[in-house]
Amino acid sequence: VATTRTDKLDTVWPLEDHTAAKHDILRGYLNAWFPIMGHRPGGERVVYIDGFAGPGVYANGQPGSPILALRCLVDHQHFDRWKKTFTFVFVENDKDRFESLEAEIQRFWTARGGKPVNVRIMLRNAGFTDVADEILVGLGKHRLAPTFAFIDPFGFRVPLDTVARLVAFPHCEVFFNFMFNRVNQFLTAPQVGEHMEALFGTDRCFDADGLDADAREAYLLSLYGEQLRTAAQMPYVHRFTMIGPQNKQVCTLFYGTRSLVGVRKMKEELWKIDPVGGGYFSDVTCGMATLFTPDPDLTPLRRGIIGRFNTKTVKVADVDDYVVGATPFLPRHYKAILRTFEELGQIEILGGRKQRFKYPSGTIVRFCVP
Ligand SMILES: C[S@@+](CC[C@H](N)C(=O)[O-])C[C@H]1O[C@@H](n2cnc3c(N)ncnc32)[C@H](O)[C@@H]1O
Repeated sequence: VATTRTDKLDTVWPLEDHTAAKHDILRGYLNAWFPIMGHRPGGERVVYIDGFAGPGVYANGQPGSPILALRCLVDHQHFDRWKKTFTFVFVENDKDRFESLEAEIQRFWTARGGKPVNVRIMLRNAGFTDVADEILVGLGKHRLAPTFAFIDPFGFRVPLDTVARLVAFPHCEVFFNFMFNRVNQFLTAPQVGEHMEALFGTDRCFDADGLDADAREAYLLSLYGEQLRTAAQMPYVHRFTMIGPQNKQVCTLFYGTRSLVGVRKMKEELWKIDPVGGGYFSDVTCGMATLFTPDPDLTPLRRGIIGRFNTKTVKVADVDDYVVGATPFLPRHYKAILRTFEELGQIEILGGRKQRFKYPSGTIVRFCVP
């Protein structure tokens, strides 16, 4: 069912810098996710959903997200070893974009000598929520196979409940593009109140009304993250913000998962895009703010580690779980902090490692920071 286009763009539009950054993150992550899923024992199927798939190509010929995902799978050096069926669900409600996507996928297979038998493509010219409901009804009592759901709308008409139900099963994760600029602009417009409430899954979003710009932004982002965590029962939710050419936030990507392995991989990608903080990309600087990248400020992490572990004896694995799961930082960041603590005599190592200044997960550490 083709629907009328609500945005002002052509069928195919130019790729913006922050979209390219989003694609870099997606590509980097899928290059890890497909192999992990491909090798996973048990289960025959792996599902990739692109709920707002687009036309499959950008104005200067760059690939759209569906083509990029297909490439990550079939161009992987070990693809032939993975004895699974990979199902791609691509949903695009605009007729012309849908036809463009169909043609791009066709072109993609032709260039590779045909589609492998273990890749299935479900292409739907329909609305995302309808297709999601159809999938869920079709499942009946069964669980959805391990799924990565990329949900990348232009606007905010994506009920949290749909997202939550789609990724309610084990090994399912979500990568959601929260269009902050649109949400912010239309938060209190009466004609979309119902959609706004559905997006957040609560009317608490309207409490942002009246806050100053910074507080409003912080409130809305943290509310969405919290809602995703509770409604979709995702213990790990991480986010990454895109700043547009006017130096204002365009959107924030939310990644939700139940897997610490997933978080590790995703955060590695986020830190590649933002080596200073792991949380932002700006069209203004195109990710090239300075010639020399400053070191990340580890003060909040140091504070967090002290708050949680000081005076306690723990394994490095516990510190690792905390840092990877509950902070934006990476293992190399806490390892640098542990090293400083050790140099200053602010931790004692009680066993579990062979080499000084190394912190394998079995290392037993007593924190004694004054
Ligand atoms: C941000 S673009 C997608 C870009 C694409 N994911 C990429 O990265 O290359 C959003 C797309 O969703 C389509 N769209 C809008 N409303 C939709 C709906 N309810 N269901 C499915 N697609 C929709 C638009 O036509 C547009 O092509």
